[in-house]
Amino acid sequence: MKPFLKWAGGKRQLIPYIKKYINKKKIGKHKYYEPFLGGGSIFFDLAHENSSINDLNEEIINCYNVIKENPDELIDLLKLHAEAHCKEYYYKIRSLDRQEDYKFMDNITKAARTIYLNRTCFNGLYRVNKNGFFNTPIGRYVNPLICDEENINEISYFLNNNDVTIMSKSFEFAVEKCEKGDWIYFDPPYDYENSGFVGYVKEGFSHEDLVKLKEVCDELVKKGCYVLVSNNDTEFVRQTFNSSDYEIIYSTKTIKANRNINSKASKRKKVDEVLIYGHKRKKQKNSISSSK
Ligand SMILES: C[S@@+](CC[C@H](N)C(=O)[O-])C[C@H]1O[C@@H](n2cnc3c(N)ncnc32)[C@H](O)[C@@H]1O
Repeated sequence: MKPFLKWAGGKRQLIPYIKKYINKKKIGKHKYYEPFLGGGSIFFDLAHENSSINDLNEEIINCYNVIKENPDELIDLLKLHAEAHCKEYYYKIRSLDRQEDYKFMDNITKAARTIYLNRTCFNGLYRVNKNGFFNTPIGRYVNPLICDEENINEISYFLNNNDVTIMSKSFEFAVEKCEKGDWIYFDPPYDYENSGFVGYVKEGFSHEDLVKLKEVCDELVKKGCYVLVSNNDTEFVRQTFNSSDYEIIYSTKTIKANRNINSKASKRKKVDEVLIYGHKRKKQKNSISSSK
């Protein structure tokens, strides 16, 4: 199984680093949570049988639900998109969300549209304008793979034969049911020192959201959960996760990331990525022994 979406900010290249912290062996019988799912590279790589996945982006979550419930109908529609694909067709399908009747479109047709646009747009960038309309231009692919039938069927099988909860809520609500021993991987939209790309959802992701994320992590760690957060290695991210609480430890690891997100070549630069691993401080054995 692999992601069915190309996802800007996808974590495929970080899998080996992330797996040093979160892996099937460590999760064991506990539950794995991924509240900022996107393309779900870590979720698909782990393929943990007891998981909870979430993204605020309803269009994306609709695709996961449709893959689970209606893979055959979805595959048929994707094949039609693949046959018709050309520049004019791309922009025609892209413009559908601007039409009044878009909200009445059935979920399978919507999912096929989302996957088609994702597989053919520039860099798999999910970008919406202030009205929430998808506005990424067409990408320059010679022969894009629009319908990966085998992968869709594998994902559908996995979602139907394991205990996987699929949700579309803001991250703080997606982790409300976490219990002691559970593992949560948070991959929020990146923090940028200056203004940058934040367009996965209409509302973006602010510094206040990041502070809220840290508070949510604190609560989870105190409960006895294990958290891993990835983000750009910015001053703000480091300051925010600088815990003064004795009970909580956040350890950080910087990774040289080979990641470009700006469409303008002149503005592209490699940004380091930071992994922040949060867990409860182990109780120390009482070192002061009472002597008579
Ligand atoms: C960096 S991407 C995740 C990429 C993913 N890890 C992958 O490998 O493809 C961040 C995701 O967070 C989602 N998001 C933004 N704000 C959110 C929120 N408040 N709650 C939950 N998800 C949110 C976006 O829709 C986006 O899919």
